[in-house]
Amino acid sequence: MASEKMIKALNEQLFKELHSEYFYISMEAYFSSQNLDGFANFFNVQAQEEKAHAYKIFNYIHRIGGKVELQAIPQPKINFESPQEVIQLALEHEKFITKSIHDILALAIDERDYTTSAFLQWYINEQAEEEESMDKILNKIKILKGDPAGMLMLDAELAKRVFVPIPAE
Ligand SMILES: [Fe+2]
Ligand SMILES: [Fe+2]
Repeated sequence: MASEKMIKALNEQLFKELHSEYFYISMEAYFSSQNLDGFANFFNVQAQEEKAHAYKIFNYIHRIGGKVELQAIPQPKINFESPQEVIQLALEHEKFITKSIHDILALAIDERDYTTSAFLQWYINEQAEEEESMDKILNKIKILKGDPAGMLMLDAELAKRVFVPIPAE
């Protein structure tokens, strides 16, 4: 059985995933306003993924007999300077989430809560992928240095991303 401290930590992570969803919707809005529909699509899918991450934790808390306690989601950043700034912020955000997941795993191991440790393993892998994909886009943008033709090609590439449902808990 997970400790009260662990249930609290999982609820905090549930909040962070929902906040991530909100943050990425804000980024989607920025790209839509710039007519970069492929980038907007990428962040639409990213937001859907964050909601799925949240629901996986939501279901896990229930499965182990805990109580889901939602909290208010603060307004995300709504003004952005450039596509590069957005991707840079998204990468930094993913690194922040990775650290957060690592902290909960450390708590789980400390408490010999091996069930939650196993549950968190999926997130460990997911975060590595999230950082990698964001880092790749950032590198491409840096190479392009605002070249319009190149940016439109990247936009077309990002338009292809589709949401793939994640395994439910
Ligand atoms: Fe997430
Ligand atoms: Fe994420």
